[in-house]
Amino acid sequence: MLIAGIETSCDETSVALVRDSIILANVVSSQMKLHSEYGGVVPELATREHLKNLLPVGREAFARAGVQPHELDAIAVTQGPGLPPALNVGFTAAQSFALALGKPLIGVNHHEAHLYSPWIRHGAAEFDLLEQNVSLIVSGGHTLLVHVKGPLEHEVLGGTIDDAAGECFDKTAKLIGLPYPGGPELDRLAERGNGTVYRFPRPMLSDASDDFSFSGLKTAVRYFIRDHPEVLSINQQLFHLCASVQSAIVEILVSKTLRAAKRLGVRVITASGGVTCNTALRSALEQLCQKSGLQLRLADRTYCTDNAAMIAALGGFKWARGVTASAIGEEIRPSWSL
Ligand code: KG4
Ligand code: ZN
Repeated sequence: MLIAGIETSCDETSVALVRDSIILANVVSSQMKLHSEYGGVVPELATREHLKNLLPVGREAFARAGVQPHELDAIAVTQGPGLPPALNVGFTAAQSFALALGKPLIGVNHHEAHLYSPWIRHGAAEFDLLEQNVSLIVSGGHTLLVHVKGPLEHEVLGGTIDDAAGECFDKTAKLIGLPYPGGPELDRLAERGNGTVYRFPRPMLSDASDDFSFSGLKTAVRYFIRDHPEVLSINQQLFHLCASVQSAIVEILVSKTLRAAKRLGVRVITASGGVTCNTALRSALEQLCQKSGLQLRLADRTYCTDNAAMIAALGGFKWARGVTASAIGEEIRPSWSL
């Protein structure tokens, strides 16, 4: 079964081809540099870039995979959630493509695709290996803790009540004076610092719910910088500051994820989304899962950030399991919850 995937929900234009769970091609064109000038994603610019890039990205994906559109069995596309004008580009293109080829169109939930992305390994979707797990999805726009009970069966346990984890990385990095998106840069500088030098709050860490809150942490960093501006101009202190902010975010994410796994009695933890690229988050999850006898599946860095391979792989998995609803006559779902 050959599936094409199309993803344009935010600032990455991506087209992938997946045959029988094997990823033949996954072409991603990132707009990060363009948006960094503005300190965040500008929806109008993102839309213009998707319009400009979708066809070349698609052509390259088909060329790399060595397949022709008429060979496709179905097309999978991100239907939501995401920025409405950005989603519209990929969704409308996918509808036209499916109609012109006479192929079925599968509308995929972007978060559900992230949820399954840890099961993509060495260029293949291993969804048949999926075991019950607690899954952390952390991106620039969302923070979700999910109980995956089995294939295509899940329950959201909690989410953020204010800023997302990636947003917290980006906003605190901006306060520190780092370029957008600040997460990767903060990660890089934090490696040279000590995360115990400054103590920042861990909001809702001991709260009984599985929800998260990050805005208090961001505010604490703002006041800290107001009161200690000299820290920003002394390299080693700046590294300690980055490491201390990072360790607060990581501690919140890791301890709430492990707590939920223990409470639910699951043996497997997975993590996905852009923030899962973070070195400290990956190693904290690795260490604590090992200590607690839990199995850990981290999404490969390639599949942490937005990509169409996860869309095509999940679309194909759903199609193979009989989820046949066609998205041809439907509309985008910008606020589609998991
Ligand atoms: O999943 P993603 O690519 O896009 C969204 O759907 O939002 O996630 C982007 C987010 C940004 O906030 C970015 O700063 C963060 O992921 N991120 C990181 C790292 N790499 C990306 N945050 C911390 N450390 C990183 N290494
Ligand atoms: Zn995403």
